[in-house]
Amino acid sequence: MAERYYIRTWGCQMNERDSEVLAGQLEAMGYEPAERPEEADVVLLNTCTIRDNADQKQLGELGRLKPLKTANPRMLLGVAGCMAQVPEAVERIRRQAPFVDLVFGTHNLHKLPELIEKARRSDEMVVDVWQYAQGVQEHLPSRRSGGVRAWVNIIYGCDKYCTYCIVPYTRGRERSRRPEEILAEIRALVAQGYREITLLGQNVNSYGHDLPERYDFADLLRDVDRLPGIGWVRYMTSHPRDFTPRLIETLAETEHVCEHVHLPVQSGSDAVLKRMNRKYTVAQYLETVDRIRERIPGATLTTDIIVGFPGESEEDFEATLELVRRVRYDNAFTFVYSPRAGTVATRWLADDPTTEEEKHRRLERLNEVVYAIAREKNEALVGREFEVLVEGPSRKDPSVFTARTRGNKLVLVPGERVRAGEWARVRITRAHTWTLEAEPTGAPLAQPALAAGEAR
Ligand code: SAH
Ligand code: SF4
Ligand code: F3S
Repeated sequence: MAERYYIRTWGCQMNERDSEVLAGQLEAMGYEPAERPEEADVVLLNTCTIRDNADQKQLGELGRLKPLKTANPRMLLGVAGCMAQVPEAVERIRRQAPFVDLVFGTHNLHKLPELIEKARRSDEMVVDVWQYAQGVQEHLPSRRSGGVRAWVNIIYGCDKYCTYCIVPYTRGRERSRRPEEILAEIRALVAQGYREITLLGQNVNSYGHDLPERYDFADLLRDVDRLPGIGWVRYMTSHPRDFTPRLIETLAETEHVCEHVHLPVQSGSDAVLKRMNRKYTVAQYLETVDRIRERIPGATLTTDIIVGFPGESEEDFEATLELVRRVRYDNAFTFVYSPRAGTVATRWLADDPTTEEEKHRRLERLNEVVYAIAREKNEALVGREFEVLVEGPSRKDPSVFTARTRGNKLVLVPGERVRAGEWARVRITRAHTWTLEAEPTGAPLAQPALAAGEAR
């Protein structure tokens, strides 16, 4: 019987994508997927370390896996991903979870087969974390997990050094993939029947600045948009500073690129933005938002916001509320600032007069505003028709299928009248804060060419 593996993933889509590459390598080695860690010979945790609560959850999970490891000493337990890139976190793993067999980071996941061999032979914890990436690894096997939606990396790493953020330290400097590699990968995915491609990067719009030729994110979008048979195209994440008028024109002109912009603002106060090292002002951000709305009618807009950044005053916070009311986001991911070891902002914590309790109250006040607007925006869609890409049965009720609009709105539809992995035309019947309910208005749409560009 073949040996089996189990991977649990935390964090962003880049980490999800990495897990697909980990899974692909394990399958190339002859492993088969297991449903649960109890049934697996290799268990990998692909970790995130963006906020402290991620570390806590992952260490908790290691604690829960300990009995499995005791019961089955042959089981190989590995920790991968961003948390492994942080030396303090590795020390914590050594102390709190000495039964872990293998720790490796984001820069050497392509070495998984060797690492497993090494850990199998060693009686001690094998820790192999590279501080720097060795270029870009192409042609690694991967096992995709997103149904008909596929993620494609276009740029790795981040050079922005926002003062709160650990990512530049866990993912290294920006490295763009060669355009021909990206396009070849997408062509193959389209041929395999994938309906939606999401271009991934911590900053997709800085794509290409490190290539020898002049070729940027707008060029790439145009080339992807022209691929024969391409379905829907999304991209994650965009930095407001690089969201140029030329990019907005490209988004307006491309047919297959969806009308959803995730544009993390982080704060509505210029003083805070400056200390965050975001390199834009509120006025510049609003100008970009207005241009997007003018050139891409119906575009949905989502964001990320941090409250309680060191030194954020009540007035700074109110400026964030003001900005949210002005932009009226379709939705927002909101966080309380979490100090990350080694980042600049932690130095300002000692002088921060705001208590944790007050920061959490700010988060609640912000969420009230964000959610009320999200709901109003969704309610305004009732009665309207949209084209959606159907994902499949929902977790709560398998007779109800989940689907998404081009604007990335999550829509629930009765399962019997739609097909998983196909486009459908639906009419919105009810609105909630996070989801919409809808009824199909006709037969499933099968042709990507038919589907794209309609019902915007
Ligand atoms: N590259 C993306 C963000 C990746 S992290 C971008 O720049 O848009 C996702 C979000 O986590 C960030 O947008 C930010 O809102 C939040 N975040 C990052 N570091 C954080 C920290 N130390 N504390 C709280 N939230 C943080
Ligand atoms: Fe972190 Fe800023 Fe880079 Fe985003 S742009 S990953 S928030 S440093
Ligand atoms: Fe987390 Fe690393 Fe992504 S820290 S958010 S998994 S880049």
